[in-house]
Amino acid sequence: MAQKKLKITNDKFQIKNKRSMKDIYVVVANPNLKESISYKIGVEALRRIKKQKKNIEIKIINLYDFKVPFYKTFSKGVYKISKDQKVRLPKDLQKIVNEMRSYKIYVFIYPIWWSNMPAILKNFFDWSVFFGMKYDFKGSKEPLHKNKRAFLITACGADDYSQEEKERMIELIKLNILPWWGIKKIDSLLIDGTYNISEKRIKKYTKECQGKLFKVMKF
Ligand SMILES: Cc1cc2nc3c(=O)[nH]c(=O)nc-3n(C[C@H](O)[C@H](O)[C@H](O)COP(=O)(O)O)c2cc1C
Repeated sequence: MAQKKLKITNDKFQIKNKRSMKDIYVVVANPNLKESISYKIGVEALRRIKKQKKNIEIKIINLYDFKVPFYKTFSKGVYKISKDQKVRLPKDLQKIVNEMRSYKIYVFIYPIWWSNMPAILKNFFDWSVFFGMKYDFKGSKEPLHKNKRAFLITACGADDYSQEEKERMIELIKLNILPWWGIKKIDSLLIDGTYNISEKRIKKYTKECQGKLFKVMKF
């Protein structure tokens, strides 16, 4: 059922209009959308927002549908690559980054694995030290994603983490990576206790997710 929903959001959420900047670019990093709680809640919240604001443009991609090799350090380190060296981001990654840059808000939906993000998302972020991902190829010092806003939707199985532990699970993206991308306005929703989650709690989290997303849109 969740799979079906993704198809709808991928295609039919796209509405052409004259605005240059589109609204929400969603990067999912989950191999099992059918059973994902964060995806279920995130997509439902987006669907409700779309229902209320019909002109909004939302695009959803799943990193598992792309081929991005593991980042490897190039010869003397990434910052030493000269402009004329024929090195480029992997094709799929370039495609994602080019596309996401035309959106105002980036939403990341991913599971908590070992108290952090899954490797596929970490690899996506690892590539940001490479030209073309955070900076352009001209060697500009302006981060490419400056002035964007971001929202993280993630889920973990256990329900007994302290607030401090929960914050630590998302701080790598929230306090390190995205601010380094130039993004300062970031909010997050960590859904816990997914092992035995009730429909009532899913509904509560969906409402919270929708509310937080609305706020991010107004940041
Ligand atoms: C490799 C792996 C590592 C995990 N690590 C944790 C963890 O550190 N803490 C936790 O509470 N749950 C952990 N889980 C459980 C997931 O966080 C849980 O299934 C969650 O619902 C995943 O999000 P999703 O439902 O959106 O896919 C782990 C699951 C996997 C597969």
